[in-house]
Amino acid sequence: MTPSNLQDQLTKYLTDAHSIEEQALVQLRMAPRLAGDAQIAGHFSQHLTETKEQERLVRQRLQDRGASPSRIKDMAGMATGVGFALFAKLNPDTPGKLVNHAFSYEHMELAAYDLLARVADRAGDAETARVAREIEAQESAMADRLAGSFDLAVQASLRDLSPSDIDEQLGKYLADAHALEAQAVQLLEKGPKLAGTPELASAYQDHLAVTHEHQRLVDGRLKAKHSRPSRFKDAALRLGALNWGTFFAAQPDTPAKLAAFAYAFEHLEVGAYELLARVANRAGDTETEALAQRILADEHAAADRIRSLFDQALDASLEAQGVGAR
Ligand SMILES: [Fe+2]
Ligand SMILES: [Fe+2]
Ligand SMILES: [Fe+2]
Repeated sequence: MTPSNLQDQLTKYLTDAHSIEEQALVQLRMAPRLAGDAQIAGHFSQHLTETKEQERLVRQRLQDRGASPSRIKDMAGMATGVGFALFAKLNPDTPGKLVNHAFSYEHMELAAYDLLARVADRAGDAETARVAREIEAQESAMADRLAGSFDLAVQASLRDLSPSDIDEQLGKYLADAHALEAQAVQLLEKGPKLAGTPELASAYQDHLAVTHEHQRLVDGRLKAKHSRPSRFKDAALRLGALNWGTFFAAQPDTPAKLAAFAYAFEHLEVGAYELLARVANRAGDTETEALAQRILADEHAAADRIRSLFDQALDASLEAQGVGAR
């Protein structure tokens, strides 16, 4: 089905938001058990309560707009085919990764509601815009709570290991960062073609150059630590579940979805370097710690730049769907 007018597009963004919440509920029901720390578990439990209400609010908006329950259900079923579900497949095996994936997912939600509110504004649906901004604020607050939990998450992840394991761990975190940069290259190489506007294309292109540099620097730290090459492979395999082909095939309105997804992905990298910096600090590797801090700043800058272009990404998407910009 190809929605051909703005009202249909708004309903579509609402169904996407609903899918995101259903996926969030699945993750948040598991998260407290895996958190490894009472305070982090508490954050997840609190956000599970909020998310149940968010799902209800979005479903209500869909019903008020006349979307049939079966359509809502169909669209929810499609969530597995789109990018949002990819995060769930990353299979966090430590409290640190769990917090990082959740941190990234909250930014995906934040981006989705930011876009939804803007579509609602354009469509003149003030109530949907209000609900979207209210939920966006909750996602933002949860993202902040998670950002404040990286210390505890690293403590919980390393708690049961002997001090002699820390170098081994550091090698793993470096390898994960390296694998993420490789994924970023793949995403950003496709970016310019699907960007929708010249500014977005430059944002992706510029960050691709920076990403190559990150890869080189992380590679240097891995070699300095004599990490076994198999580590690369392990990390790449763990990330293999990120199937970009499926993601891109499933997106009819790529500029906005791509911007939202890139924004969330940058936060996956932010989280990875937040963790790496802390593990390096514990291992007494000041060089890796400083490198992680430096790259962290680049990832934040890239995320901010992409976010600042959401409005034009949305206009490009709507235009591609045959809905003229305002
Ligand atoms: Fe949510
Ligand atoms: Fe959320
Ligand atoms: Fe990046």
